Amino acid sequence: MPKKPFYITTPIYYPSGDPHIGHCYTTVACDSIARYRRMQGYDVMFLTGTDEHGQKIEEKAAEQGVTPKEYVDGIVAIFKRLWEYMNISYDRYIRTTDDYHVESVQKIFKALYDKGYIYKGEYSGKYCTPCESFWTDSQLDENGCCPECHRPVTIAKEEAYFFKMSPFAERIEKLLLETDYLQPKTRAIELVNNFIKPGLEDLCVSRTTFKWGIPVTFDPGHVVYVWIDALSNYITALGYENSAYSDFDRYWPADVHMVAKDIMRFHAIIWPAMLMALEVPLPKHLAIHGWITMQSKSGESQKMSKSLGNVVDPFMLGQRYGVDAIRYHILREMALGADSAFSNEIMINRINSDLANGFGNLVSRTVAMADKYFGGTLPADREADPLDEDFKAVCLRAVSEADTELDGTRIKGALEAIFKAVDRANKYIDETEPWKLGKDEQKRARLATVLYNLLDGIRIISALLSPFMPNTMPKVWEQIGASESDVEYEKLSSFGVLPENVTVHKGEILFPRIDVDKEIEELNEILRKNMAEAQAKLSAAEKGEAPAEETELAPEITIDDFAKVEIRVAKVIACEKVKKSDKLLCLQLDDGMGGRQVVSGIAEYYSPEDLIGRKLQLIANLKPVKLRGVDSNGMICAADTPDGVKVIFVDDSIPVGSKIR
Ligand code: MSP
Repeated sequence: MPKKPFYITTPIYYPSGDPHIGHCYTTVACDSIARYRRMQGYDVMFLTGTDEHGQKIEEKAAEQGVTPKEYVDGIVAIFKRLWEYMNISYDRYIRTTDDYHVESVQKIFKALYDKGYIYKGEYSGKYCTPCESFWTDSQLDENGCCPECHRPVTIAKEEAYFFKMSPFAERIEKLLLETDYLQPKTRAIELVNNFIKPGLEDLCVSRTTFKWGIPVTFDPGHVVYVWIDALSNYITALGYENSAYSDFDRYWPADVHMVAKDIMRFHAIIWPAMLMALEVPLPKHLAIHGWITMQSKSGESQKMSKSLGNVVDPFMLGQRYGVDAIRYHILREMALGADSAFSNEIMINRINSDLANGFGNLVSRTVAMADKYFGGTLPADREADPLDEDFKAVCLRAVSEADTELDGTRIKGALEAIFKAVDRANKYIDETEPWKLGKDEQKRARLATVLYNLLDGIRIISALLSPFMPNTMPKVWEQIGASESDVEYEKLSSFGVLPENVTVHKGEILFPRIDVDKEIEELNEILRKNMAEAQAKLSAAEKGEAPAEETELAPEITIDDFAKVEIRVAKVIACEKVKKSDKLLCLQLDDGMGGRQVVSGIAEYYSPEDLIGRKLQLIANLKPVKLRGVDSNGMICAADTPDGVKVIFVDDSIPVGSKIR
């Protein structure tokens, strides 16, 4: 049977700073849905990318003395590295600076103009530069500031093109209230009341005050302003109005656009209006989720922001607990539509309870018992008990419940459904008490049945979990003796798929238990430090002081490059000043290899007697040189500090000649 297409998209991200765990949410969520659909046999197109134009990028690039393209290239590389690290299986990555996208946007803009939906006028309004948004008075917050970032707005006036919104108001209201386009529904009502009922305002779609954007072909002083450029990505990436791809007929309309609440207005109102004007079919679903927030000192929820120093670094979390544990945590915490407060305590307790104690322990106990009682391979004898049926029914129900939840893009719900089966499996172990069966020769067939049911239940559960935790589940399959075909989706609706004489393989612990107190203390310390640094930067900026310079590292090296440097412990046997030099000392070293002489520029900071008898670090394979006519065979390690040069001394217990690595 030909596969059915399924098209899912994330927003395209602004590469205006390093990505954080908040950015990961939508992408990990879409990745899980994409993987689940692939497992169900769909032909999936999963799109993500970056939204690279605009004044903010132009300004940031200027601050760093690079071109906007050079600036975005650097950050896009970090985004891509993060997606690789988080195991994001996107099929296509669009950059709005890609030539084909630029070409399509120019054609889209012209088509809207030719149809009379875009006209030239003058814009005068309240503008928020960081958010690149004009706001009407009624939209400003209670302090007259930007309703999104709450920073002051400025009055901006310029010639601009506008997109007529009013012709679409009625259709959009119906779309939001009478169809299941937007989920959750509460958000649809909010949008209609706030934006459609008061009268849809025309949208400013070009700018003349900055250059970093897609030029309007028929009026070169203008660049296309943000949303026509950004939103179009969902169709240009398929080849709409360009020849780079030819997937539009296959994948459009999109099955799911997933975005966070701050950009729902653009996706729920402006995007449908644009598509209506272009006479392009509307996407099927728009799923809105909340933010991952952090608590401020005063207890209020704040969006993560670099300037507040409250961002959580996904690379750091992944290194500590594993990428799958982090994916699981953010997916399990966020309910569609609502915010989810990030907390180190909740994360660690969740990983311990659900993954280490719940699922991980289920797998390791089951495999260990199969190993202990049957040497790893189950016998074919069976003895069923009515007790088995409820356990099996709960596992099978997890499949249909997870499917239904996924259909409604409720990932938290899907995970909850699957974990009902994990809990039921652990309860089944308590009910059947395999350790007692193991003591009774007469009960071997019953014991084999219990363990087989557990292994086959784990097969179903782990297959269901694999879209959410793709790194770990293949390890589970290896441990429970499941082949690739045993975990195919079609085989999840029945028990009895693993071979009768299945062989298990004890393996590594899937999710190590985390030491709660120690980790929370360390994580909270990292957060405290970040917030203090951000606060210091802010105060410096307020006082007009230049921010401390960012540390520039030398170009990256590989471990092989590093291995070329031989560092050894050496002891200073004798030392004297080099004649006619204020800076140089000549040291005689015991290096454990017959001794050598090294000249070092530390005479301003050390006298010979400070050094004699002490152990230090020697770069032992440096090419010999002559300094002021004196032979120097190597170099000693020292640190540059605000108080001058400091030699790195080595603990006296470390033997001379020891290699440092
Ligand atoms: N470039 C626009 C999107 C254009 S889509 C046609 C944009 N980019 S963004 O990088 O600022 O944000 C991208 C997405 O990440 C948004 O949905 C935004 O809400 C989301 N998130 C940013 N921080 C977040 C959290 N702390 N939590 C959850 N999502 C967050 O908007």
